Amino acid sequence: MPRASSRLLGLVTCCFALLADAVVWDILRTTYGPSMTGVYFQSQPRTRSDALDQGWTKLSGCEQGSKWRGERYIRNDDHTIVLIYDVSGNIAGIQTGFETNDPRGLNVTAMAKYTQEDGGYTYVTTYFADPKQLCDASRNACSEVENIYFQRGSCDNLMTISTDLSAVSSWTLGKCFPKMGVHYAYGYTTTSSCDDLFPLFLLYDQGVMKGIGFALIANFTSPHYEHPTLDNLKWMLYEAPQCVSTRVVSSIHIFLSQSLLETTCKTSG
Ligand SMILES: *[C@@H]1O[C@H](CO)[C@@H](O)[C@H](O)[C@H]1NC(C)=O
Ligand SMILES: *[C@@H]1O[C@H](CO)[C@@H](O)[C@H](O)[C@H]1NC(C)=O
Repeated sequence: MPRASSRLLGLVTCCFALLADAVVWDILRTTYGPSMTGVYFQSQPRTRSDALDQGWTKLSGCEQGSKWRGERYIRNDDHTIVLIYDVSGNIAGIQTGFETNDPRGLNVTAMAKYTQEDGGYTYVTTYFADPKQLCDASRNACSEVENIYFQRGSCDNLMTISTDLSAVSSWTLGKCFPKMGVHYAYGYTTTSSCDDLFPLFLLYDQGVMKGIGFALIANFTSPHYEHPTLDNLKWMLYEAPQCVSTRVVSSIHIFLSQSLLETTCKTSG
């Protein structure tokens, strides 16, 4: 990959000069919506110190036996968005979680291969950096992000996904939608079962990953979730699973690059 399409996450200021022409993961915003207010496109803290300032509280850390790597934080006791920081306090991952005994239509049994349970909640996890390094204080958070890591169940079962276009060869090309970019889903077809749809999707713009998203077949009520109908999904996917016609989707688009918000989808890519 050419240098120009490399990505960078973490404390942008510390390495901005080094990679002046790089595509930068310079934001962390969640939930698509009709405006830029409230929970729509809400900016989330990219450092632990900002999180603490904004009232986030620690859910787990680097202690022995933790089911994840890094430090996990939530706000207002809402597990819909869990932010993961490395031990130095740089953003390093994101989860969505829900109460295991209130799955709101989600097939928890079929989804167990993609989720991890802890303390009455079930979580879907994606890291922005190699989780093996997140509890290591000497980790260089300024290094380029080359992969994201999806945790399939336990924390040693990772699906590594390159942030360049090589990742998407095994994913299903979806459609471009303004402010979202080009969607890629994993294994979705029109006849997919709604029991165990892969809960992570990818967002690309100009051939570069600039966002990700979570999608669960469930009727969760947190305002952080979007609820696209089958007709809405047809604007994002060529092969929207038909099973969605009788189910509710709870999804979260996660925006990692300011340039993604400027995508109009008028140019290809
Ligand atoms: C959950 O998924 C499994 C596997 O597809 C299926 O056999 C089962 O009937 C589903 N349960 C519910 C309640 O839909
Ligand atoms: C989803 O949940 C909301 C709020 O609890 C409820 O009003 C709605 O009827 C539910 N939709 C379905 C299809 O179950």
